[in-house]
Amino acid sequence: MNPFQQEYQARTQANLDAALSNPDTPKKLRSAMRYSVLAGGKRIRALLVYAAGFTVQAPLRRLDAVASALECIHCYSLIHDDLPAMDDDNLRRGQATSHIQFDEATAILAGDALHALAFELISAESTGLSDQQSRAITHKLASCAGHTGMIGGQMLDILATEQNLDREQLENVHRRKTGALINAAVICGTLCGDQVAPDLLAMMDKYANCIGLAFQVMDDVLDVESSTEVLGKSSGADIERGKSTYPALIGLAESRDLALNLYQQAVESIASIGDNSAHLADLAALVINRDH
Ligand code: IPE
Ligand code: IPE
Ligand code: MG
Ligand code: MG
Ligand code: MG
Repeated sequence: MNPFQQEYQARTQANLDAALSNPDTPKKLRSAMRYSVLAGGKRIRALLVYAAGFTVQAPLRRLDAVASALECIHCYSLIHDDLPAMDDDNLRRGQATSHIQFDEATAILAGDALHALAFELISAESTGLSDQQSRAITHKLASCAGHTGMIGGQMLDILATEQNLDREQLENVHRRKTGALINAAVICGTLCGDQVAPDLLAMMDKYANCIGLAFQVMDDVLDVESSTEVLGKSSGADIERGKSTYPALIGLAESRDLALNLYQQAVESIASIGDNSAHLADLAALVINRDH
């Protein structure tokens, strides 16, 4: 990670620590929320919020709230994704999954609480967002996280188990289950700016959709190519669970080519923004060059 990425990764960690320190939270629930959220993670969605926000000179306190909210939704999705009823995984971010460390009920509730916390954070008075910005960001985040976005994708992912999807169907699953929240990160970060031009939003949308799909293609590739130790989650889990993935459908080399092609399209989409977009270009590179 470059210095920008390290700085804002650390900032996100500190903000999340503060957001999860409410003494009113029942102790076991707080422990479970902190256990999963603070365990690390690349914070790519938070970094995308900051990088997008910086292209429109958005104030930091707005971006802080939105970045933390994105990571809360993402972390909730991981806790639920790992449950026995879903992917049934026992390792996440290098440690036991929430339902193994605590119990299933606590894992479900920790996820639910993180989902709600995200909306509590972005609707707080202290963000400094105008009512109009807050409404637009809330609507974007809710629609990307919900039934037509991430959760819709998770449903399709489960239905696709042991099925032979065609390329169009698989792309649809991946764009929803992973791409939608990445799109929300980029667009919500941009919406933190004042007077955002529609053509800038259109460029950001194209960029986000390219890296969103590339992100899940690479997640599928790394599940095959990387080790459990490096990933911090069980490698080879997709084949074991009969998941529909890009390597299974088109092979590893073609999957990597696709990710590279999407990266190039992403960078082209934001090229006309100028110097301000360098952090976004670096994050697109991180999406396809990461080892975990
Ligand atoms: C993993 O996301 C789940 C997917 C959507 C593919 P990340 O690879 O961003 O997980 P963390 O946050 O770094 O742990
Ligand atoms: C997860 O996809 C997408 C989510 C919304 C969590 P995966 O099931 O491939 O993610 P990992 O590999 O468990 O992190
Ligand atoms: Mg899954
Ligand atoms: Mg999974
Ligand atoms: Mg995966």
